[in-house]
This record gives sequence, C-alpha cells and structure tokens, in this order.
Amino acid sequence: MPKNESAAPHPSRARLMLQEDWASGETYDAYIEHELTGFQVQVWRDLFTSHLPEGKVAKVLDVGCGPGYFECVLGSLGHKMTAVDASEDMLARAKRNAQSWGVEADYVQSDAHALPFDDDCFDVVMCRNLVWALDDPARAYAEWLRVLKPGGALLVYDGAWTRHFYDEELAAEVEENERAYAERYGKTRKVCGAYDERYDELPLHAADRPAWDVAVLKELGMRGIEVDERVCDKILLESELVLYAASPMFEISAAKTLDGDAFLHEYWQQRADTYGIGSGDSPAFGELVDEVAPAGEGAKLLDVGCGPGGLSLELARVGYRVTGADFCANMLEAAAENAAREKLPLELVEADATALPFDDGSFDVVTSRNVMWNLPDPKGALAEWFRVLKPGGSLVYFDSEWYRFLLDPEVAEQYHSLYEVDMIPSYRMLNEEALKLPLTSLSRPDWDVAAAKEVGFSSAYARDVSTVVWTEEYRKRWAYAPQFMVVAQKL
Ligand SMILES: C[S@@+](CC[C@H](N)C(=O)[O-])C[C@H]1O[C@@H](n2cnc3c(N)ncnc32)[C@H](O)[C@@H]1O
Repeated sequence: MPKNESAAPHPSRARLMLQEDWASGETYDAYIEHELTGFQVQVWRDLFTSHLPEGKVAKVLDVGCGPGYFECVLGSLGHKMTAVDASEDMLARAKRNAQSWGVEADYVQSDAHALPFDDDCFDVVMCRNLVWALDDPARAYAEWLRVLKPGGALLVYDGAWTRHFYDEELAAEVEENERAYAERYGKTRKVCGAYDERYDELPLHAADRPAWDVAVLKELGMRGIEVDERVCDKILLESELVLYAASPMFEISAAKTLDGDAFLHEYWQQRADTYGIGSGDSPAFGELVDEVAPAGEGAKLLDVGCGPGGLSLELARVGYRVTGADFCANMLEAAAENAAREKLPLELVEADATALPFDDGSFDVVTSRNVMWNLPDPKGALAEWFRVLKPGGSLVYFDSEWYRFLLDPEVAEQYHSLYEVDMIPSYRMLNEEALKLPLTSLSRPDWDVAAAKEVGFSSAYARDVSTVVWTEEYRKRWAYAPQFMVVAQKL
C-alpha cells in the first residue's frame, strides 16, 4: 500500500486545547532544554540502544516529536531520524534544537493518525507522551505498524496522565504527591494541569494503561510485546519521582512480525548488517570438514545457508571450490564483500535450502552451519541436500539446539545465568517463532542421524564438536547449546 491518504480524524476540542498549550508555553521547551543537558541523555541513549541489535544504525520515526529531543539525542549517535509533529511551531523549535546539537533529521508536519510515508520503511517507530492525547489511538497504532518494517520495533513511552481526574482514590494520591513535591522542593507542579471537561473527549482519558495498549497491539498482530511499568525510575529526577509516584511513565516495546517463512526470511535479511562474518569462526571448522570428508583438492562443495560466508570462506581456504547458497540477498551481498576482501573465490547463489537450483549429483560435499534449526521443513532439506550430492559424496553440517532453553528448565537456568539483559523486541519475537519450528521440540542430534538415514544416506553419525571448533570464549557464551556435527554418507 502506498502512503496513507485517508484523512486523519477531526481533532477533538481536547486535542486542540493541548496543542495550543504545548505550542504556546515555554515550559515544554524549557523542560527539554534541561533534559538535553542532564544525565537523561545517556539514559535515553542506552535505553534506545537496548532495543536494537548490537551495532545497528536505525531508521527511526519519532511521532509527535515536540521540540525534537530524540532527534538530538539519537541523531547524534548516527541514527537516521525522521520527526513528525502536527504543529509547525514545534517543528521550528525541533529544528532549532537540532541545529545547536549539530544533528540532521527530516522534519515532517503531519497528523500522527495518517502519515505521509510508504509501508515498511522504518526500523523503529517511537513516541513519548503522545498516545494519551490522541483522538483515535488504536488507529494511530495501526498506522505506525504500517510504516514499520517487518522485524522493526515500536517503542512507546507514556503515562495515564489524566486518569486521576476520573478516579477519586487516585486523585487523592496524586494530590498528596503534588503536596509532597511542593513541600520538599518549594515549587508547585501538577501531574497534568487542572481538570478540563474537554479531556472527557479523549478516548483514553480514564483508560487502564498500559493494559489497554497491550490488548490493542496484540490485536494488531504485534509480537514480543513487553512492558516496563517502572521505566520512569531510570529517566526521572528524584523530585519527579515524588510528583509522579502514582502516575509512572511506562515503556511498551513490541515488534512487527510476519508469519512463518516470510518472517524468517525478513529476519535474516535484517540480520545481514549485524551478523558479522559468522558465529564462532575458527579455521577448525574448515579443517574438520576436510578431515571427516576428504574429497581432494578442488572438490566441489555447496555451503547451504552460507550467510555472510564465514564457513564458506574457511572451506575455500582449505582448498574446496565453494558455492554458497542463501535465501537472503542481503546475506549474499555481505558474503561477496567478505570474499573480495579475503581474495578468495566464492560462487554465490540465491536459493532456498529446500529447493536448490542444481542438478542431481552436482557436489562432492554439502555443508551447512547453524541453519538446520530454523528450517520449516528440515527433512525436506536433508532430502534436497542428498539429491544434489554425487554418489560417494558427504554431507557435513554443524548446528546446536539454540532454542532448547525455551522448553527445558535446566537449560533455561543455564541460559539466563549467561544472559541477564532484557532481550530486544525482534529477538523476543524470534523466540516466539522458534517455538513453532519443528526442530525446537525434537531431541537433537538423534533426530538428525535418524532423518538422514530415512532420506537415503547409507550411514550417518553425530558428535559434539564444541571443544574442537569453538574458542574458549564461545564455549562459555554458548554453553547452553553445544555445537554438534552431523556427518552422512551417500553411497
Ligand atoms: C545463523 S546464519 C549462519 C550463516 C553461516 N552458515 C555461518 O555459519 O556463518 C543462518 C543463515 O541461514 C540462512 N537461511 C535460513 N533459512 C534458509 C533457507 N530456508 N534457505 C536458504 N538459506 C536460509 C539465513 O539467511 C542465514 O544467512
């Protein structure tokens, strides 16, 4: 679908009132100014980065950018920022702030409910203190989802800023907090100004949040939804925590998904720029293949799911004539660059592991590393690899039970002792997807050996090779999923 040309909802009186408040007073600007020079800069940067794959430079849409805080803080990290606001005045302020920070961003005047962008064009859509004030927040969420790339993350920071006007018990708590704040800090500040009947027009004026948001995002098909109800503890000053004690700012993070095969393809496409040369590369992989499947100098080898070429290049170095196949164009591009840099020949072909564009009996050896676990039809892949092998040829592949920790409490304990950090939305989503993959719940490599024989290999065996192929660092990092090797012979 092209950009959204449907009209935004007619702004409510509440929205107009808020817009005027935000644009007229210098308060908001002054707040941002103080936040731009405070400890918050690093906190926001860390928070944002914790939701991205390591090293990712993201295309970010900041909806309702106001005076442009995130453009300064995240733009200066190298992220490509697009800022949207309905108010021309706010955009002018945002541009001024960006100028003084020496950052560049695209500034677009638009309603948050109907954005002038194509589908699937941002890695991250984020907003702060906006959803509560929208006229049709569910529709806005759907719109943000539309412009988000599959695998991209939605980050929402907000609070139930008006709920106390509609809840007596909460009102008493908020009043007490406002009093405590005034007493302790000698300043009068309100959680959300004074009650105005125009607030009644906002659909979320008294909503139970973030529960409301989570339900809507689930309905829209978002995955890996997680809420941090105390994100305010990281961001707010001690004094602000007193004031907002009964109305904490929360964070919602979620990922846009696609189903099944399409999801996996998109996931790997996006991973291409952060995958690096490969997982746990060491010459030991190439040497081991050569040892268990000696095929002589110049033998033809196919590496299935070659990614950026880590294993393929090790094998080319050992002397095989290597063809790398992968279903992701981005991965193949990275592999071509790596091969050029290493000055090693690689033939690269875009192909699915279960439907290879090669004649029967084309290769002396077929290899693959860390691919089998993610295949929707693993037995179909084995049969296909058998087909393209020459009689007398060998299949040698490496894999681990990467997602056993999702099902086995003992492995889970081991996993969580290594990874205490919160997982980023796209990885959480991968966990959800991994649970649906056929191999996640099967016992491996027993399954592999049996399945290889079933598709026609005359013999097959498997063994743990973690100590052979992984450095000590990798053995520690992936202790929860030892690497095994499967070797099968075609008569
Ligand atoms: C974990 S990476 C491993 C990359 C490489 N084998 C290595 O060890 O460095 C998995 C790779 O498998 C590819 N892949 C996943 N499913 C595939 C499929 N059905 N057909 C072809 N390639 C696939 C992905 O694009 C990705 O490059």
